[in-house]
Amino acid sequence: MLSEFVKTADWKSEKHVPLIECADSVKAGDFFEITVSVGKEIPHPNTTEHFIAWIALHYVPEGSNMSIELARCEFSAHGASAAGANQGPAFTDSKVCVNAKLLKSGKLYATEFCNIHGLWSSEKVITVK
Ligand SMILES: [Fe+2]
Repeated sequence: MLSEFVKTADWKSEKHVPLIECADSVKAGDFFEITVSVGKEIPHPNTTEHFIAWIALHYVPEGSNMSIELARCEFSAHGASAAGANQGPAFTDSKVCVNAKLLKSGKLYATEFCNIHGLWSSEKVITVK
């Protein structure tokens, strides 16, 4: 299974682990903001040679065995240019903000892909009242 190759660790000491930031508890049916970032404590380089390609955010309601993809963001600009690597005028940082509303408590799962270091994931419990 691909899941064998999804790594995790403490985001404060491993720059690849996505950090999910949102309220611990939200009101059912109200939109709230979820931010997912990679490298908040230890910046991850986002260069032509080494970058975070995408972040995906999933939600699994309590009692369900199926994940729901809330959002997926691809980071496409890493300084590539005809003038050479890292000479381009645009770079993206690995951070995305998602508005969502939920009806049941559950877990949020963030997954990211580094073009050199592979898949990394983290999770956060969300209480919906
Ligand atoms: Fe990396």
